[in-house]
Amino acid sequence: MSVEIDWQALRQAALAARARAHAPYSRFQVGAALLCEDGRIVAGCNVENASYGLTICAERNAVFAAVAAGCTRFVALAVISLAQEPVSPCGACRQVLLEFAPSFEVRCYGASSGELHETTAGLLPHAFSKRDLG
Ligand code: THU
Repeated sequence: MSVEIDWQALRQAALAARARAHAPYSRFQVGAALLCEDGRIVAGCNVENASYGLTICAERNAVFAAVAAGCTRFVALAVISLAQEPVSPCGACRQVLLEFAPSFEVRCYGASSGELHETTAGLLPHAFSKRDLG
């Protein structure tokens, strides 16, 4: 039985995670929430560092937290930042998102009402994946 996507709940979880972002350098807070196949929602926020290059995005933190919690199959992802318009995951996050499920739904929200609807495969066409490793 497949889990139903409650985008409202997922957006709310991403919003709550955004409030916990550690972004003193960019001041650009981002929250992400993943819906796992077993119905659990796992969230992440961006965490910056004084050594700037060590910063990690909200999306990857959500994936890594989900894996640590025992979820490796995802159904949907919601992302919300402080920007008015929706921002979509960066290139590094797109690659990481593709690792655990062939494709799942992604919705990005802006601080205003804008929404971007995508899939992980749509975000990274012709991606390098474990299939390429033979
Ligand atoms: N950031 C994310 O967390 N997710 C994105 O999709 C884009 C960028 C973070 C990284 C950094 O902390 C800040 O936003 C500015 O780039």
